[in-house]
Amino acid sequence: MRVYLNGKYLPKDEAHISVDDRGFIFGDGVYEVTRVIRGKLFAESAHWRRLENGLSQLGIRPPAGFTMEAVRTISERLLNDNGLADADATVYLQVTRGAAPRVHVFPPPETPATVFISVSPMQIPWELRKQGVKVVTQPDLRWARCDLKTVNLLPNVLARQRAKEAGGWEALLVRDGVVTEGAATTAFAVVDGQLWTHPSGHRILPGVTRDLVLKLASELGFRVHEAPFRLDERHRWQELFLTGTTTDVQAVVDVDGAPVGDGRPGPVSRALQAALYHGMGVSSLAEPG
Ligand SMILES: Cc1ncc(COP(=O)(O)O)c(C=O)c1O
Repeated sequence: MRVYLNGKYLPKDEAHISVDDRGFIFGDGVYEVTRVIRGKLFAESAHWRRLENGLSQLGIRPPAGFTMEAVRTISERLLNDNGLADADATVYLQVTRGAAPRVHVFPPPETPATVFISVSPMQIPWELRKQGVKVVTQPDLRWARCDLKTVNLLPNVLARQRAKEAGGWEALLVRDGVVTEGAATTAFAVVDGQLWTHPSGHRILPGVTRDLVLKLASELGFRVHEAPFRLDERHRWQELFLTGTTTDVQAVVDVDGAPVGDGRPGPVSRALQAALYHGMGVSSLAEPG
């Protein structure tokens, strides 16, 4: 695999960052994961807006010429160099505040940010998408700016790990009784045929897929509530599903060992999954089996 690091295209094992990099030392950086469908970046502008917002909120100055078009050019070259020019893949982009002696305050403004970009092939796990997954609830232990997509993912890592150890595919994060989101996904519940998802704000990541699914849901005529929904009302959930750049629309059929609805993916998540795939242009890809 060839990757991009600070202006250079390198074999991955030759791409090295400084031990002083503030991404390594402090988790002082942001990232994006963008989907690639048959060689084309999907929802590129939405990912770019979120990245720019994170950089500006955190006061991280990217290098001159760091534009969406420049990142697209780099991503396309990486896809090409890695034999993924027409493939389904993901692009990972990380920008940190750069390398500087370890003090908490920001380094001098001329310190160059670190920019890393890599690509990976991705195949849709059709069996999971069709059958649904189990989730395990975990306390949401994250900080008060979950809207920023920073590389500080320790609470997410711990929640996912604990969920996995308990047989879950994802952790469903709960704060003060309210479902916020998944460790790396947005959560939606269906109650009385209507959709509920946590309001945007500082408590969740503003998911690119969340926005797409909200739009699709309205177009399909579903009533949508961007309002808190509580775990102790889970007996009312007819469906639960997760969304994300690599998760698409993924039905959840089990929470903490108890079935959601009849324990099978329901009609709302199936309709939204189909609509999202249609919008992504992957509906024509045959589902195996
Ligand atoms: C905490 C969290 N919530 C939600 C999402 C889904 O966001 P998106 O749809 O932009 O991938 C992610 C994606 O990584 C995430 O990390």
